[in-house]
Amino acid sequence: MGARIIVVSNRVAVPESPRAPVAGGLAVAVKAVLKNRNGLWFGWSGKTDDQPDPELRIVEMNKITYGLFDLSTQDFQEYYNGLANRVLWPILHYRVDLQEYSRADASGYMRVNRRFADKLSTFIREDDIVWVHDYHLMPLGRELRARGSKNRIGFFLHIPFAPPDILQTLPSHQDILGSLAHYDLVGFQTENDRDNFGHYLVTQGARQIRGGAYEIDGFRVRVGAFPVSIETAIYSRLARNAGRSPLAKQVKNSLGGSRLVLGVDRLDYSKGIPQRIKAFERFLEDNPQWHSKVTLLQITPKSRSEIKEYSDIEAEVTTLIGKINGRFGDAAWTPIRYVNKSYSRTALAGIYRAADVAMVTPLRDGMNLVAKEYVAAQDPGDPGVLILSEFAGAAKELDRALLINPHEIDGVATALKRALEMTAEERRVRHSPMLDYLMENDIKNWADGYLSTLNENSQSLGLLSGIRAFFAGTPEQRPSLAREAAGFRN
Ligand code: UDP
Ligand code: G6P
Repeated sequence: MGARIIVVSNRVAVPESPRAPVAGGLAVAVKAVLKNRNGLWFGWSGKTDDQPDPELRIVEMNKITYGLFDLSTQDFQEYYNGLANRVLWPILHYRVDLQEYSRADASGYMRVNRRFADKLSTFIREDDIVWVHDYHLMPLGRELRARGSKNRIGFFLHIPFAPPDILQTLPSHQDILGSLAHYDLVGFQTENDRDNFGHYLVTQGARQIRGGAYEIDGFRVRVGAFPVSIETAIYSRLARNAGRSPLAKQVKNSLGGSRLVLGVDRLDYSKGIPQRIKAFERFLEDNPQWHSKVTLLQITPKSRSEIKEYSDIEAEVTTLIGKINGRFGDAAWTPIRYVNKSYSRTALAGIYRAADVAMVTPLRDGMNLVAKEYVAAQDPGDPGVLILSEFAGAAKELDRALLINPHEIDGVATALKRALEMTAEERRVRHSPMLDYLMENDIKNWADGYLSTLNENSQSLGLLSGIRAFFAGTPEQRPSLAREAAGFRN
């Protein structure tokens, strides 16, 4: 049995039943990573209680071991709703205007990270590899080190990493973002995110060294871009079958011959849903010949509903859709169908397959797996068209999509017309290289790439052991011990 991989994330997608739906790219990616590995998934159970059970619950399901614990109501408010989702999420998505910082939330965030570290450190074995995911748990690496962990510890950020000027609006950013330097490897979705992190470290006094690593305060951290992906081949097969499923047929039949344009997003202000709906409205204004011939299906599971910015976006989207349906619809045609339920992977695959166009128009997105899933789900002989925001990480890879700026409503409306009227030949020419690319660069490739980089002979480990040796040695031995372990020659 090889080394175990311990994946740690805030949200753990424990299946209530093997078929339960999951919404969110992180859960989808981590699940695929653990599928064929000797691994455990450790994190919040999703349950809150005034007096949470202090015990870690171990659950085995579908060959994955889960280590779960509950959060107190206060933890949930301060750590999850507070610092993670009202501060870090907006700032890292370039929405400084939406951050609502409080010291109580910041200290709750640190407290929960320490709790994760306390629970995890009783659990980790010497040769385990620890892989921490996402913005909820940035300081966890530092906390594990403080508890004596000498394991390989990596971090991957699923969301964007903004430029330093934006990050510096976060009070106590050194304590939160700076703590990332305690990992052996910090992975990002794109080179742009990676470079923003590098620039940030430099503003904090770091020095860039060989191999794109950085040295700061005696720590050496490696960085890299590892664009997250999907199980492309499996997903394509799933969509081929799901396209023939009763649900996909029902959706198609219910359209009465009208073309299907699809949006799939958590109800989040980063996803550009109002901009997309306004573009659809502009398209209907400019193209009366398309009335009754096209329907936008917007699948939008609710997300983080207790946070004001999320209830605001919900109200905005509902009002806009009502207005457009009232203005353009008639007894036989509803221009926009809006659903707040979450669909299973299979159901969604069938709907992607049935859709002529997917509109993926985030204002800013780490990657956007919906874009990749849509491409994988298409019939290569008669594929649909992907309209993709240039501000989604996926745009760096899916460059044959119709790339748009979501802020330019006219441009998105024009792209929609172009997509609906595109010849089959052009659709195939655009789709085929994207599918080939995703077949090659799938989730396995992502996980292997990250984990093999994490496993490479890490100089940061050398430096850390140097620091430990430094404090263990006599004053005379100290300078040479630390330098040797860190790999310095003289
Ligand atoms: N998803 C799902 N059911 C739904 C809506 C979305 O399973 O009803 C999945 C979708 O297939 C994708 C993920 O949720 O894998 C969303 O990931 P993405 O990277 O697009 O956005 P995120 O929600 O992580 O910001
Ligand atoms: C994004 C984040 C994940 C998060 C998911 C769903 O994918 O990167 O960390 O789990 O959204 O959001 P939620 O707040 O429900 O976990």
